Amino acid sequence: MAVLEIRKYPDEILKKVAEPVTKINGELQKLIDDMIETMYASNGVGLAAPQVGVLKRLIVVDTSVRQKNQSLLVLINPEIVNYEGEVLSEEGCLSVPGFTTKLSRKEKIYIKAFDRKGKPIEIEADGLLSRALQHEIDHLNGILIIDRLSPLKKELFRRKYLKLKK
Ligand code: NI
Repeated sequence: MAVLEIRKYPDEILKKVAEPVTKINGELQKLIDDMIETMYASNGVGLAAPQVGVLKRLIVVDTSVRQKNQSLLVLINPEIVNYEGEVLSEEGCLSVPGFTTKLSRKEKIYIKAFDRKGKPIEIEADGLLSRALQHEIDHLNGILIIDRLSPLKKELFRRKYLKLKK
């Protein structure tokens, strides 16, 4: 296992739409293990493959620090099939270090995906898990938290953040 480099805004790869996983092989298993190690090493609750430079529809999530009944989830080709409610809460991203913002997300979601062995699974999520899953699935579609800000807030963010990075 290895800790991978996390791509940071404004890296172009973070804007791209990831491709579905079609082959579950040794290479994919290694990527999954490396993503898990990278997520824990960064104290994150989730990580999507594009964040480590791989444009595949693969995410890892572990919200057990805040939700005692949860554990590590590895999801291949995840899809939100249904949702209920809206909830506003603070959110950050490992690819946008040092920035957090309040974002509205679906309160409860239903997901269909495949586990790391290729077995179909269905998940019902609320609380932090629901938020983390929506955040990571956004990454698979090339969407960052800043893309969910109003145009004015996004522009203010860009000016401030890119200045800080210089
Ligand atoms: Ni993120």
